[in-house]
Amino acid sequence: VKRYAVIGHPVAHSLSPRIHAAFAKQTGIALEYTTIDAAPEHFDALLAEFAAEGGLGANVTLPHKARAAAICTRLSERAQRAGAVNTLIRTATGWEGDNTDGVGLVRDLTERHGLDLRARRTLLLGAGGAARGVAAALLDAGIGDLYIVNRTPERADALADALGQPGRVHPRYFRDIASIGTFDLIVNATSAARDAALPTLPVALAGPRTAAVDLSYGEVAIPFLAWARAAGAHDRIDGLGMLVEQAAESFQRWHHVRPETDAIFAVLREHRA
Ligand code: ATR
Repeated sequence: VKRYAVIGHPVAHSLSPRIHAAFAKQTGIALEYTTIDAAPEHFDALLAEFAAEGGLGANVTLPHKARAAAICTRLSERAQRAGAVNTLIRTATGWEGDNTDGVGLVRDLTERHGLDLRARRTLLLGAGGAARGVAAALLDAGIGDLYIVNRTPERADALADALGQPGRVHPRYFRDIASIGTFDLIVNATSAARDAALPTLPVALAGPRTAAVDLSYGEVAIPFLAWARAAGAHDRIDGLGMLVEQAAESFQRWHHVRPETDAIFAVLREHRA
């Protein structure tokens, strides 16, 4: 049986095994998909062990996405641009790294939620791994100007530089957030709610046509989406759909079949409404 896994820390509550099991059943592909809990200092060794045992592919989640990019012998263009890998594909010469987070987000927003992203004035909160994974895909999807605000301004600057579109991408200071106007799309890519609290955001960032998106789901997404409701945002979307879509894209990379995602999304949504 073909072996796949998700490697992260912590990883026990990952939904990826359920999602890939559902895709496998739907497409009639026999596979095993497990979790590998790897503290940062054990990531390389545990991944090598998985490969030695015949592992054909893996998803990579927090906090290993940048390290995964560093150990690959080949990177897809989108992984290279993100500097982060969420999908590993076994090749004869080592791991190939891909990043399906950005297309997963765009597909969820446009196809599941029916949003037209074109020309949307966009605010990206955060400049870490999650932000880097989605920024280029949002630009490719035709958003308007992209403003990047991050607690550590140097990281916002670095991400803006890496995106290579200075006329369109604007890093800004958090302390200036009250004077940068209203946005049609606001994406929370910070991990603030995971470890501390969301920084205070002015309600004037959102208007009646704004879509507010948190890249996480469950409890972690609640503070930002509650802010978005209070601010009057039209759409409030968590990262569950993105999770399912990035999984479908990874599944396609491994098995060359595109699974249908609505059924598993509905099941997961029901348990995490
Ligand atoms: P991830 O892969 O989830 O993006 P990361 O690379 O550690 O993880 O990035 C976390 C992001 O959340 C960063 O943008 C971080 O800001 P800094 O670059 O200044 O560290 C942001 N973040 C985390 N905690 C935060 C907090 N309490 N307030 C504001 N931003 C926070």
